[in-house]
Order: sequence, then C-alpha cells, then structure tokens
Amino acid sequence: MSFDVDRVRALYPALGDGYAYLDGAAGTQVPEAVIDAVAGAYRGGIGNVGGAFPASGRSDELVAECRRAVADLVGGTPDGVVLGPNMTTLTYRLAAALAAGWEPGDEVVVSRLDHDANVRPWLQAAARVGAVVRWAEVDPATGELPAGQFEGLVGERTRLVAVSAASNVLGTRPDLAAICATAHAAGALTYVDGVHAAVHGPVDAAAVGADLYATSAYKWSGPHVGAVVADPALLETLRPDKLASSPDQVPERFEQGTSPFADFAGVAAAVDHLAALDPDAAGTRRQRLLVSMAAAEAYELDLFGGLLDGLEAMGHVTIYGKAARRTATAYFTVAGHTPRQVAEHLTAREVNVWNGHNYAWELTGVLAIRDAGSAVRAGLVHYNNREDVDRLLEGVAGLG
Ligand SMILES: Cc1ncc(COP(=O)(O)O)c(C=O)c1O
Repeated sequence: MSFDVDRVRALYPALGDGYAYLDGAAGTQVPEAVIDAVAGAYRGGIGNVGGAFPASGRSDELVAECRRAVADLVGGTPDGVVLGPNMTTLTYRLAAALAAGWEPGDEVVVSRLDHDANVRPWLQAAARVGAVVRWAEVDPATGELPAGQFEGLVGERTRLVAVSAASNVLGTRPDLAAICATAHAAGALTYVDGVHAAVHGPVDAAAVGADLYATSAYKWSGPHVGAVVADPALLETLRPDKLASSPDQVPERFEQGTSPFADFAGVAAAVDHLAALDPDAAGTRRQRLLVSMAAAEAYELDLFGGLLDGLEAMGHVTIYGKAARRTATAYFTVAGHTPRQVAEHLTAREVNVWNGHNYAWELTGVLAIRDAGSAVRAGLVHYNNREDVDRLLEGVAGLG
C-alpha cells in the first residue's frame, strides 16, 4: 500500500490557488481528469439517450459506464444504480416509493446522528401514512451511535431503518453491520447514507447489509450527481411516480427527466481517479478501489491524529465527538468567538472551513450548540497535507 500526497495534489488544479481546502466534507475539488472527461463528452458530441445516431449512442454509453463506476465504488451491481441530481432528491423519491407500501402503525427508525437528508424525508413519509417514528440516540459525550439500542427500537412492524455510514460533522462511523443485522432480523429494510463516508475509505454496501446505499459524487472528487444503489430485485418491487412515456424498467424507472450525461463522464473519471490513488493497486477497478481507498484512509487518519492533538492542546478549543471509528472530520468551537467569526478569521489566512449545523440538524440540537451557531468543521480528504493542518492550527491558536 502506498500513498504520495504530492502526486495526488498535483492532479487537482484548484489546489494551486494557495488556499488550504479543509471544506471537503461540503464538496471536494475535482482532478483534471474529471474536468477533461466532462469537457471531452461535450466536445465529442452527445445527444439524448435511445436515439438512432452515434451521438445518442455515446450518451447511452456514458450512462452505462457511470452505473458501472458507481457500482464498483460501493460494491453493487450496475443495474441497481439509480442516478439523480443529489442524495436529498433521491432520498425523497425513494421514501415516497417505499412508503407507498407502509400501513398506519408501521414503524421507521431514524437516528439523531444523521444529516437531515436521511431523517426528514422518512419523517414526512411516515407522517403521511400514519407510521410511527422511533429515534436512535447519540451519546453526546462521545458522539457514538450505540448499535445495541437498535434491538429495542426495531420490531415486527419496523419497515425501514435509516442510518448514516458516517456523520458529516463528528465523523462517527456507527457499527453498520450490527445495525443492519438487527434490522434484517426483524424483516426491515436498511437505507444507509454513505454521502460523507464514501471518500474516507473502502465501501462494501452489501457486506454491511445496506439494502439501499446513497452517495453523492461531488463529495468524492466528481461532479454534482447523486446515486442510490440497491439490489435490482428490490427496486423492481417499488413503483415511484413517473411519466407514462418514460422507461419503466429498473433502474430508469426512478430517474426523472433528462440526465446530465456529460457529468456522468466526470463521475466515471472520478471513480477511476480514486482507484488510482495508490499507484501500486492492481486488478479490476473494484479491487484497485479497495486498495487505494484503504491507502487514502490510512494517510488521512495519520494526518488527522496531528490535527486533533493540536486542537486538543489548545485550552480555548472544545472538540465535539470522540468516536472509536471515525473519519478525519473535526467539529469544534473556540471560546469567545462564534463559529462564523472563526471561519472568517481562518478565511483571512486562506484556510477554508465550514461553520454552522451543516444540516446535522438533530445532532446539533442534542449537542445544544445549534442556537449559538453550532461549530466549525475542518475535514481532511486525500488531497490535504501537513501544511494545511499546520495552517489551521496556527490560525486557531491565534484566537486563544
Ligand atoms: C452525510 C450527508 N448526507 C447527505 C447529504 C446531502 O447530500 P446531497 O447534497 O447530495 O443531497 C450530505 C451533504 O452534505 C451529507 O454530508
């Protein structure tokens, strides 16, 4: 396993502007190969899908290759990859389709760790059919979402358990395999939000028991495209609202309107880029992804150790969350300064961080920080380096 951050950084033109990009959790930068793939698709001529002429055939192939690439990334099958504008839109669509089969008194389980995009669509769908919502709670002291509690939350009426593969603010990675096993033992489906997790390490949706696994390419070096990956046989059982004239087969049945075909070329290029993060990785794209993402994860977590140690040593900083398994994502406040002021102070030093609840709506409520502007998020991805971390620490130290 090998990882060379200087080589990786050179692939990202935007990093040349001198800023420390610690905002990747809200969307990463994209490598030249992705930009070229999108531009190349337009340059080469594309059309709408299903036509008789070659430019249309090129779009058919972009769609097919995008599905293959996303399937390789998360460990699914291409016919089970539903593509759409982003995870939130797709989750609303899937929630409506799934809830069409729910009865009053059925139950869904959601968690207070999750981004609101994996909470609100389920609450609203449940309310429409009279289903009962049960909440999995976070331990505010550690940021853990204890898996054991799900045994008391699921029962014979549970239809769905919605849970995150990783918190987009605390980085907490719940024990998905245990949670999904508990859901399956009760006959419930699982909807896993992998939007934050996917860039931070290898993903195997089937191995953890995710019946539906959601991801968003703009969080892993790709364009703004979302995907939900499921067994095509499960998708066959669902009947989403759709036009009479649009394709009825799976997965197209779930895709509304005309797709961003050129962006799909960028999605496939982003997956190829991730698969090559470790230049020594060999084998199929899926095999190279597993090796490369493990290399990226080891690199990020090592760098993150220094970031956390540095913040922890500052008496004026409060860090939220200390989960045993987490991504390289720090969430903190600085005494005497609002999160927005901290972000502005860091911006003046060309360090990009996010401030606010970042849509971790329930969680920032549990942590009792939402009304005060929540906290500052600094996240690492595979293109961040020691200098980025040092600049963050210097900037925050200056507020003490
Ligand atoms: C964990 C998590 N889930 C869901 C979303 C929503 O994703 P999208 O922007 O693709 O709708 C985000 C975006 O920030 C996220 O971080």
